[in-house]
Amino acid sequence: MKKGIICYRSKYGAAKKYAHWLQEVLDYECRDIKTISGKELKDYETIIICGGIYASGIKGLSLLKKHRNEVADKRIAVFCVGASPYDHQAFEQLKQANMKGLEGIPLFYGRGAWDEAKMSFIDRKLCHTLQKVIAKKDPNTYEPWMKALMEARGKSADWCDKQYLQPLLDFLNKQ
Ligand SMILES: Cc1cc2nc3c(=O)[nH]c(=O)nc-3n(C[C@H](O)[C@H](O)[C@H](O)COP(=O)(O)O)c2cc1C
Repeated sequence: MKKGIICYRSKYGAAKKYAHWLQEVLDYECRDIKTISGKELKDYETIIICGGIYASGIKGLSLLKKHRNEVADKRIAVFCVGASPYDHQAFEQLKQANMKGLEGIPLFYGRGAWDEAKMSFIDRKLCHTLQKVIAKKDPNTYEPWMKALMEARGKSADWCDKQYLQPLLDFLNKQ
């Protein structure tokens, strides 16, 4: 049985960056989720999913949802990467919306990156549409992700920080 695998799903590189930082510390295999079959997951003691958040959905979770039997006896954790600063309430909502059927699996959060110049045409369009909708609201009523989206307009930023990985590493050390 192999020690562990970090499976990442990253469109713009931040989740991939966190996955490789984890690999340096844990010495697990680290692979793009698209290259991993459900059957292979049986070979690992620990599985970490590392996925970007797009329109409130965490990418990569379908690997676990589709292969419940293969991962039933594994130690699993999910690390998700978004542009918003951490907010407890928003995080709980994200958990509720994404972790149905994966109850009991811990979810961790790291702040990622934002660069409209690197986005696909469709993603950029989607973000601009969202920004236009949000701009009509009273700024005092913005949720944290709305505030972050408005502040990021036209800018590029990289908030990735190894410190975000510490709670996940603590979890793995305790087990
Ligand atoms: C179309 C789109 C939708 C996004 N939606 C969210 C979101 O709902 N919440 C959030 O925190 N960040 C959101 N982001 C920001 C990404 O999560 C952020 O850029 C992150 O770094 C993505 O991971 P990646 O760099 O590995 O692709 C969105 C980005 C794009 C392009």
